[in-house]
Amino acid sequence: MEFLNTIDKKVKEGRVEGVDKVTGKGKFAAEYTVENVCYAVLVGANIPAGKITSFNLDQAKQVSGVLDILTHLHRPEVPGFATEELIKSSRFGLPIFHTDQVYFKGQPIALVIADTLEDATYSASLVEVQYAATPFRVDFDAARETVGLTEAGKERGAMAAWANAPHTVEEEYNIKSQVHNPMEMHATIAQWTANDRLVLHDKNQGVNNVQNVFANLLKIPKENIEVFSEFVGGGFGSGLRVWPHALAAILGAKQVNRPVKLMLTRPQMFAGTGYRPASWQKIKIGADASGKFQGIFHQAKNATSLYENFNDGITRVTRLIYDFENLKAEAAIVPLNLSAPTWMRGPGDCTGDFAIESAIDELSYKLGIDPVELRLKNLAIATNPETKLPWSTNFLNECVMQGAERINWSERKSQPGQLVDGDWSTGYGMAVGAWNAGRGNASAAIKMERDGTITVQTAMTDIGTGTGTGMVNIAHDTTGIPKEKIKIELGHSSLPPAPSQGGSNGLSSVSGAVVAVSLALKLKLAEFAASQNEIYKTAKEEEILLSENGLSFQKNNQHFISYADIWSKNGLTMVEVEASSGPGTERQKYSFCSSAAHFCKLKVNTKTGKVKLERMICIADGGKIVNDQAAANQMSGAAVGGIGMTLMEEQQIDTRLGGLIADDLAGYHFAVNADAPIIEVGFIGKPDPNINPTGAKGLGEVGIIGTAPAIANAIYNAIGKRFRDLPITPDKIL
Ligand code: MOS
Repeated sequence: MEFLNTIDKKVKEGRVEGVDKVTGKGKFAAEYTVENVCYAVLVGANIPAGKITSFNLDQAKQVSGVLDILTHLHRPEVPGFATEELIKSSRFGLPIFHTDQVYFKGQPIALVIADTLEDATYSASLVEVQYAATPFRVDFDAARETVGLTEAGKERGAMAAWANAPHTVEEEYNIKSQVHNPMEMHATIAQWTANDRLVLHDKNQGVNNVQNVFANLLKIPKENIEVFSEFVGGGFGSGLRVWPHALAAILGAKQVNRPVKLMLTRPQMFAGTGYRPASWQKIKIGADASGKFQGIFHQAKNATSLYENFNDGITRVTRLIYDFENLKAEAAIVPLNLSAPTWMRGPGDCTGDFAIESAIDELSYKLGIDPVELRLKNLAIATNPETKLPWSTNFLNECVMQGAERINWSERKSQPGQLVDGDWSTGYGMAVGAWNAGRGNASAAIKMERDGTITVQTAMTDIGTGTGTGMVNIAHDTTGIPKEKIKIELGHSSLPPAPSQGGSNGLSSVSGAVVAVSLALKLKLAEFAASQNEIYKTAKEEEILLSENGLSFQKNNQHFISYADIWSKNGLTMVEVEASSGPGTERQKYSFCSSAAHFCKLKVNTKTGKVKLERMICIADGGKIVNDQAAANQMSGAAVGGIGMTLMEEQQIDTRLGGLIADDLAGYHFAVNADAPIIEVGFIGKPDPNINPTGAKGLGEVGIIGTAPAIANAIYNAIGKRFRDLPITPDKIL
């Protein structure tokens, strides 16, 4: 296996979108120029709960250039909001401008539209609202006490079988709410064109999803909705939903009969595009004297909103990683006067894994068994413990062993607080994580020109993971066409449909489609070539080779026919093929997971509470790695997210007034380069023979699932203090 430090090698092959992104040529949603565009600014509610009793818009309307102001009393109809049933079935979440009800502070209640952004912003500041306020609750810790737990998935075995296990750990874990904060702000440019057609430039993680959501809400054919999301400045899950502001822009454009651009401000992002909900967990784990787990009881609660339920699936991961007989899981959601949370960075599993992997570390000290050995003893390496299906492939044990070797685990002291140098104590920690490896139906097309240049197309967005670059590799490997002649087009709803990019599903879904369409291209060219050479009549995909200038049969350029020849003889301008690929019966025979082991070495300053990460190692099994550099970048980025989650990220909430505190990048701290060492990423790299034609199982989530407990466990090893609540800020360490 080769280690892929991001600084040392493979910088030769850049990202296909890299130059456009760093030179600013690639456009984010708000950067498109649309003729005759006007600007819209949202006004948020000033109270966390109650009713709007009246608006006074007189002053706001006097600002020059103001075109209109939308409220629930004045806006175009939304057919999908016509009845409560329709609202519910739309799964849109907040029915914006639909009701006088206020569910959270910052809830969009008016939209000012003006010729310029400045006029709209000023006018928005003059909107006056009267409310009838009602009591609210935003304090998760207080509210969760009032909500009872119910079963989360089927119980395995029985609690009674292990309740008196010789070694147990029973503890509670709390994680504060965290916010995605992608670099690019969410924004929508909405434009109605002739015949009720809608064009959207929108920041999201799936253009087909946006298309479907609005087709349903507006009751227009989805073919009438065109969505562009070609370059996306990060998502982390925030673009998997369609948020109220996008509908606001669409309604605004309808109202003023002009294209409308709506950009959220950073504070509006905190209350408008989801977040990882605050959570509470309780774990009881029991083991026999040899360290074999006898049972786990996992309870979890997460915050949600009052208008939409969100269950983060926190106990799901407990069913995935280890082999043990007795499992009981319970969960609850806790409605608060906050905006709706959503999936964020390894959602649910990342939260649940922190508690499980912290408890196992604690158990290792009680048992006197090394944490690495304890993991290896209990990993479910052969079969999925829940479905009992064999894993198609699972190399988590190898990830653990290679990570331990890489970090020199043998230098770790089995008792905490042994490696002390002045004010600094050094510790080692590790944890593992896994994620159900999914795959969706995806389509791709290839357009080939006379000079042999091909353009591979799919509607999938690339949110920064390098999907396009991976697609070049796959198209090159499958066809033989040199990479310089392969172009990629992504993120547009008119391209062949694909799933949203999220849940580590992107490449595992689209890679199959790229293989399928590459093979289809070979056959199509052979069809044309058959009129010149009989041998191509019956040639199979694997016998046809494409090169820079033409196709040949088998190897050594046999029966070479140039593209130029084919184009001339057949009077072609362009050759176009399209193909689809998706999961099949393999999912009845096998379970699929990606996994990773995380190791860290850090120093804790016992005078200042500062935690300094010295090394972070992440060894992952993601099946075949289609592009080393993009895959390693994704993993190291995820691990940096994990550092933020562990040491600094926390959405503070004002329990007196019901609003968010410090909802900007000055007040909400996440990890920057100075907080992170070079993340050392390694891959097992063995293709999964069953998941899809490339063997790539998908990455992303496993880069963060396990990072937080690895760090928290290392802090314990350094100073002997066990932290079960995140974030672990310096004040808590002291
Ligand atoms: Mo994600 S939470 O896989 O966008």
